[in-house]
Amino acid sequence: MELEVNGRRLSADVDPETPLLWVLRDELGLTGTKFGCGMAMCGACTVHIDGQPTRSCVMPVSAVAGKRITTIEGLSPNGDHPVQKAWVAEQVPQCGYCQSGQVMTAAALLKATPKPSEAQIKQAMNGHICRCATYQQIVQAVGRAAREG
Ligand code: FES
Ligand code: FES
Repeated sequence: MELEVNGRRLSADVDPETPLLWVLRDELGLTGTKFGCGMAMCGACTVHIDGQPTRSCVMPVSAVAGKRITTIEGLSPNGDHPVQKAWVAEQVPQCGYCQSGQVMTAAALLKATPKPSEAQIKQAMNGHICRCATYQQIVQAVGRAAREG
């Protein structure tokens, strides 16, 4: 199966029903995207599909053939996307497990809504679960990324 991941065309020899998350992690070695619940409930596995934040744990890889897939590894060539810089500045991560999914959703939010209100930020990030409860830092960091671009 031909895939476009982080701007590169790749082929993966997998069952079409395989969830995209497994292809990313196990076949392509892109382990920045995490497995949490496996049921589209926690957001840990979020990547962009044609720019839209999408949960890769329940997405059959056949559904994304020919679409642009972006993982945390491809968000910015140097890891200096405004959201990533704000994450460092606000010291958001604790254990870090949920964070790549959070960052991908935040990046998509700011692309669609460059100056979100606090309510819009909370609404966009609402479906992400963080066992370390970094929620307040996340809201602050998304706000900082919006301000500082
Ligand atoms: S692992 Fe996909 S949403 Fe939880
Ligand atoms: S930082 Fe630990 S689960 Fe979110």
